[in-house]
Amino acid sequence: MENILIVYSTCDGQTRKICQKIKWVTEEMGHDVKMVSIDDWFREDLGEFDKIVVGASIRYGKHNKKVIDFVVQNKKLLEDKFSAFFSVNVVARKASKNAPENNPYLKRFLSQVSWRPDQVAVFAGKIDYQKYGLLDRMIILLIMYLTKGPTNQNAVVDYTNWEQVENFGRVIGEKAKRK
Ligand SMILES: Cc1cc2nc3c(=O)[nH]c(=O)nc-3n(C[C@H](O)[C@H](O)[C@H](O)COP(=O)(O)O)c2cc1C
Repeated sequence: MENILIVYSTCDGQTRKICQKIKWVTEEMGHDVKMVSIDDWFREDLGEFDKIVVGASIRYGKHNKKVIDFVVQNKKLLEDKFSAFFSVNVVARKASKNAPENNPYLKRFLSQVSWRPDQVAVFAGKIDYQKYGLLDRMIILLIMYLTKGPTNQNAVVDYTNWEQVENFGRVIGEKAKRK
């Protein structure tokens, strides 16, 4: 049994939902798993955990700056332990951008932090127009129009491949630190 911490950054809840799935999968494997928002990570004693997973969504081309700060501040600790990172964004709904090697946000994130997680993943997120304020809705509408996504303003489309999330959870539960 290992202690696993999942640190997440979410705006509309999809990344938290993905973390809950990873938590469920790893708990089923017998691990002790805790989830914490990026706003509260400092309340945790990171040294107590065997594995640390970080998940963050993209908004207007960027991960939350607090996630970058967290990684920079705790880089040594993250590298001493088994660590994993995943990014959630809607460009990942396209096959040409749904892998760590071809997703522009994941690639940029890793180049920004020089942290080498043992495991990385990209998950496609969710579009839910009615959750957005007017300006955000108009901008997402335009982006979806340009990239051939849903443009019905009542659309709720969950692009997340939940099987892929489960597999990622299983790898986290099973894998040992890369030597
Ligand atoms: C205001 C806004 C801006 C977004 N900007 C981007 C973007 O630049 N690139 C992208 O791939 N996805 C973008 N998305 C899609 C989100 O990454 C996606 O909805 C994801 O599921 C959000 O996860 P969260 O609910 O955990 O924050 C944006 C979504 C919103 C609402």
